[in-house]
Amino acid sequence: MLQAALYDRMMRRTERLCLSRWRKELLAPLRGEVLEIGSGTGINLQYYPPQLSRLVLSEPDPHMRRRLEQRVSSAQAHQVEVLSGHSERLDLPDSGFDHVVSTLVLCSVADVEQTLAEIRRLLRPGGSLVLLEHVGAEDPALQRLQACLEPAWKWLAGNCHLTRPTAQLLQSAGFKLELEQDLMSGAPGFVSPVIKGVALRT
Ligand SMILES: C[S@@+](CC[C@H](N)C(=O)[O-])C[C@H]1O[C@@H](n2cnc3c(N)ncnc32)[C@H](O)[C@@H]1O
Repeated sequence: MLQAALYDRMMRRTERLCLSRWRKELLAPLRGEVLEIGSGTGINLQYYPPQLSRLVLSEPDPHMRRRLEQRVSSAQAHQVEVLSGHSERLDLPDSGFDHVVSTLVLCSVADVEQTLAEIRRLLRPGGSLVLLEHVGAEDPALQRLQACLEPAWKWLAGNCHLTRPTAQLLQSAGFKLELEQDLMSGAPGFVSPVIKGVALRT
């Protein structure tokens, strides 16, 4: 509940320094039917293009979802559907989406392998997972710091893992990666390594 209440305020500086630009770059080219997992308070809503034929936003946390619904309603985005599911199992048909969007979510899901299998199930062949995720560092000293802080951070930040090797997990799940690495300005150093781009469902 506290995370939901503070989330937008805590992210404001990072949004201004880099996240808002990255969100826009990733989401503006999307067309067709799009599902977003772990939508949180709905920060991405403003960046989706009007040409989408369907937009489904899913968020399991009721406090986050209440804010998401408020945002959808004040944007008068009547065509947007809001769902309550966990990304490990969503009550949606196979191959129903051209794109699945995940921004700062794969760090927090309880079962990342099951989430990636579910995303593959939901995507049409040739569809893409569009992602922006903070990940485990490549630098060994930063890796050690992330491992040391992770238990406390998970408790403080809604099960957010610092050390997830998300690119390797995507590859093992059978996605073809077109990702860039970057650093998230304005975030603590141990959360700053990010990957962003698309993972294609082959
Ligand atoms: C750090 S927030 C990111 C919110 C938003 N996507 C963004 O870009 O700002 C992580 C979100 O993932 C959601 N989440 C956690 N576990 C999840 C799961 N198993 N399935 C779907 N979403 C989950 C949380 O409720 C939270 O809203």
